[in-house]
Amino acid sequence: QILMFYCSFPMHRIICIFDRMQLWHDQNRQYHSEQQDFKKLTHELMEGLGRDYIALYKDLSGTEVRVDRAEKEMEYVETWTSPRACVHPEEKVLERGEWSLKEMNQNKHDCEDVIASIRSVKILKRAGGPKGVWTPDPKSSKVYLFNGTSGESLFQFKSVRDFFNSSGLHSSSSVKLGVEWTGSGSAVYSDHLYYVTHAEEVQVVKFDLTSGFITDIAMFPLASVSPVYSLNPETIADIAVDDQGLWLLYASNEKEPNINLAKLDRQSLDIEQIWDTGCPRENAEAAFVACGTVYVVYNTRLPSRSRIQCVFDVNGMVVNEEAPLMYFPRRFGAHSSLKYNPEEKQLYGWDDGYQIIYRLTMKRKMMATQ
Ligand SMILES: *[C@@H]1O[C@H](CO)[C@@H](O)[C@H](O)[C@H]1NC(C)=O
Ligand SMILES: *[C@@H]1O[C@H](CO)[C@@H](O)[C@H](O)[C@H]1NC(C)=O
Repeated sequence: QILMFYCSFPMHRIICIFDRMQLWHDQNRQYHSEQQDFKKLTHELMEGLGRDYIALYKDLSGTEVRVDRAEKEMEYVETWTSPRACVHPEEKVLERGEWSLKEMNQNKHDCEDVIASIRSVKILKRAGGPKGVWTPDPKSSKVYLFNGTSGESLFQFKSVRDFFNSSGLHSSSSVKLGVEWTGSGSAVYSDHLYYVTHAEEVQVVKFDLTSGFITDIAMFPLASVSPVYSLNPETIADIAVDDQGLWLLYASNEKEPNINLAKLDRQSLDIEQIWDTGCPRENAEAAFVACGTVYVVYNTRLPSRSRIQCVFDVNGMVVNEEAPLMYFPRRFGAHSSLKYNPEEKQLYGWDDGYQIIYRLTMKRKMMATQ
C-alpha cells in the first residue's frame, strides 16, 4: 500500500520503474547463470558417464582377455596328462642307402591356415646352455630337450608342466642315442625322434623313443656341407614337423644363397619333393613349417628383434609379398631353434637358454581362385 502510494507520484514513478528493471535484470541474470550451471553440471555428468563407460568397457574386455587366457591355460594343462613311456637303452641300427626321389602323387591335406600374428609369449623356464632345442611330441604329452649344439643324449619330461615344475635338466630321464645329434635340427613326432647327424656326410636319423632303437638312417646327398641359417652355424639341416608331414630345411651347397626344402616320407625318410624357398640363408636364425608354409625368422648378428621376413608356401597359396612382416615380442637374445606344434598351433623357442612358448593366431589362406 505504501509502495503503491509512493510510486503514484510522477517523480517516484521513474525511480520505481528503474527499480523494477533492475530487479528484472538481476532475476534474468540469475536465471541465466543457473541455466549455465545446469548445463555445466549435465555436461560434467555426461562426461563422467562417458568415462565410466569407457573404463567399464576396458575392464570388461580386460576380463574377457583374462578369462580367455585362463581357459587357454586350463586347456594347456589338461592336454599334458598321459603316462610316460619306457625307453630301453639297447640299439639296433638299420643302415639305409641313398635317398630316392619318389614320384610326386601324394594327396595333399586340406590345410588352409596361415599365421596371422604372434598372439602371446610365455617364458617357461631357463634350463641348460644358451643354445638348444625343446620340442613337444605333438602326438603325446611328452617334451624333449636337446641341450647345446651336439650330444649323444637328450632329456625327456612327461609333460611341459612336469618340466616347468622340475629343478632342471638333471631331474629328468635322459635318453641315450648312440649316434650323435648335431645342430638344432631335431624334431619329434608320434614317439619317434628325427635328428640330423653329420660326420662325412649329412644324415637324418630316425629313433624310436618307445623301443629305444634307431630304426632308420638316411644319407642326404649334398655337394658340400654348409649351415642352413647363417646366424646358427651349428645347424647344418633342420627337420620340421607340421600337419602335412616331415620337412627338411637345408642348403644344397655352400654357394647356394637360399634355403632349400625337402618333403620327407615320415615312415621311410624318402624324399617326396624338393623346392628352392627363395628365402636367403643370410641373417636367418631359424625356420619352421606350418600347414605347408615355411616361415623363415631373421635377426641380426648383434641380436635385436627376431622377425618372420620370408615365407614360402609349397601349395603356392601364400605369396611372400602378401605375407606381413611379423616381429616376435622383444625378449632376450636370439633363437637357436623354433619348433612348431601343429596340434596346439604354438611355437617352442629356445632363446639364449630360456624356453619360450609363442601362441599363434591363425587365419585362412586367401584363395587365389576367388
Ligand atoms: C647344457 O649345456 C651347457 C653348454 O651349452 C653346459 O654348460 C651344461 O652343463 C649342460 N647342462 C646339462 C644338464 O647337460
Ligand atoms: C608342481 O609344483 C607344485 C608346488 O611345488 C605342486 O603343488 C604341483 O602339484 C606340481 N604339479 C605337478 C604337475 O607336478
